[in-house]
Amino acid sequence: MMDLNFKYKDLIKFFEENLPFKPELAIILGSGLGEFAKSVNTKKSFSTSSLPGYPSSTIEGHAGKIHFSEYEGKKLILFEGRIHLYEGYKIYQCILPIFIAHKTGCKKILLTNAAGSVDFNFHPGDLMLINSFNGINIKKELTSLIGLAGVEEKNRILDFPSSSFNKKIKTAALNEMIELKEGVYWYSKGPSYETPAEIKMTRICGGDAAGMSTVHEAVFSSYLGMETSAISCITNYGAGISKNKLSHSDVTETAERVKEKFERLIKKVISSI
Ligand code: HPA
Repeated sequence: MMDLNFKYKDLIKFFEENLPFKPELAIILGSGLGEFAKSVNTKKSFSTSSLPGYPSSTIEGHAGKIHFSEYEGKKLILFEGRIHLYEGYKIYQCILPIFIAHKTGCKKILLTNAAGSVDFNFHPGDLMLINSFNGINIKKELTSLIGLAGVEEKNRILDFPSSSFNKKIKTAALNEMIELKEGVYWYSKGPSYETPAEIKMTRICGGDAAGMSTVHEAVFSSYLGMETSAISCITNYGAGISKNKLSHSDVTETAERVKEKFERLIKKVISSI
């Protein structure tokens, strides 16, 4: 099994030598939500293709940049674009942004993603605070990596989502008069969208939104002791809910439409930490 500190030693050294500041909050920007990085004051950006050992992004809407930015005096590390299992990468590669955030000394992380609705009350354009998730398989796979990231066995208690961070996000939404739904994020590997039968099964099993990311990141960052919360942008109806056929452009178009609301919420969250 892979020792992350050894595997990524060049990358860790790179950040040790080029770190503009120690970030307080990391944000992973999901599908079509990467533009947020443009709305804050960026001090230093790295293209992930220039980073030693960093996997290259293969998807439209995932730029592959890491920004060190500031907003209202708060220091941020922003990941524009993420690494998915369905791209053929291994799980130790998918959790690399979390590992980097941890190595830079960051103690808090907000994960964002695009997801399809499963709950009939959720509609494209809604924002959903994740209160739990299902990802049994990847959770199992991940546990073998935790120790190798330098985490002691005795700390293996999953604390996701962070109740204090979730509280701050709910307050921020309230203050901005943004409706924030809450629900269970249901992971599947993809890359194809679920079938109507799979969405139906997900609903019966208690899922509210379906997506192909976030769970492994949430597990890993929580185990690393980072305060972790996650927000889904509902970009489309899950398969079978609407008569229209799903496409990736639905995802990016809705994310574009929700951009202003999303930015407002995230900025309020940043101010409140
Ligand atoms: N299913 C899975 N992942 C997704 C979806 C979906 O409907 N929309 C955006 N990401």
